[in-house]
Amino acid sequence: MAKIGSIDVGDFPLLLAPMEDVSDPPFRALCKEQGADVVYTEFISSEGLIRDAAKSVLKLDIYEKERPVGIQIFGAELDSMLQAVEIVEKSNPDIIDINFGCPVKKVVCKNAGAGILRDIPLMVKLTEEMVKRTNLPITVKTRLGWDSDSIKIVEVAERLQDVGIQAISIHGRTRVQMYKGNANWEPIAEVKNNPRMHIPVFGNGDVDTPEMAVKMRDQYGLDGAMIGRASIGYPWFFKEVKHYFKTGEHLAPPTILERVEAARRHLQMAIDWKGEKLGVFETRRHYTNYFKGIPHFKDYRMKMVTSDDAVDVFAAFAEVEEKFADFQFA
Ligand SMILES: Cc1cc2nc3c(=O)[nH]c(=O)nc-3n(C[C@H](O)[C@H](O)[C@H](O)COP(=O)(O)O)c2cc1C
Repeated sequence: MAKIGSIDVGDFPLLLAPMEDVSDPPFRALCKEQGADVVYTEFISSEGLIRDAAKSVLKLDIYEKERPVGIQIFGAELDSMLQAVEIVEKSNPDIIDINFGCPVKKVVCKNAGAGILRDIPLMVKLTEEMVKRTNLPITVKTRLGWDSDSIKIVEVAERLQDVGIQAISIHGRTRVQMYKGNANWEPIAEVKNNPRMHIPVFGNGDVDTPEMAVKMRDQYGLDGAMIGRASIGYPWFFKEVKHYFKTGEHLAPPTILERVEAARRHLQMAIDWKGEKLGVFETRRHYTNYFKGIPHFKDYRMKMVTSDDAVDVFAAFAEVEEKFADFQFA
């Protein structure tokens, strides 16, 4: 049974990865319903929070039904990160996660995200002070290292554990790799096999089938899987993995009715949360995956992603529901 601090997260938990513009409250709610054991917000800038930037503050919204939920923050300035911890605490999350893995240039050039992998003492110092500042469990999400010549994740994980983090999620790529190549889970297994490690070690990167999740659990011996891209527009992925764990069989894919219903609820929750304009806009990226596999779908998709008016998008859903009522997903 894995535990993050005192939070029981079950046997081999499935964690929804933090994803910018994806892991918002509506999407987290859908993933939670489909079996995600822990969900994380997208990364939130510590500097933005301190400036009280509306965009950053909105990202702090969390809801009872999604617990346990972690709020992820990033930054490289000690003062800002400590102030951000205090601001985040007021939203009452279950976990505060530190992003030491974002590979994007504008983040790493300020030494934040994966940029900090070039300065391990700073990474450890920031973490230590943040742990001291709060009673909430602090977790870390990071990558294997800056590049293939500087993979020190076993040592890094141990040092972060020693200053008090309660779990670590490791994406099996370096910063230089960005998203290229395959994720390498070997170094993550080395972290787990370090006899000094006692906190949960969660694997991340390329878990896109139930078989991959089984591999991460049985072959690599990790404590849980963090799932990102495979869940975008497909929150059922969590349920499918759990079903496979239990039975060794694949669950039938969701029907068109279930897909349309999820898309409807997703859009409605997004509108309720952010208003029509942003709700319509930000849900668009999910539709390709919600309806993946339907032949000649382009015209319907275009209707869903080009209108700014929710009424049109709901009408497109209804049309798809009727037109493809008998479609069998493979
Ligand atoms: C659209 C998108 C946004 C992301 N945003 C974040 C983020 O805000 N914080 C973070 O730690 N990782 C972020 N990531 C990385 C994912 O959390 C995850 O580490 C990565 O996608 C690998 O996992 P996967 O193969 O299961 O997708 C993002 C990834 C994607 C695709």
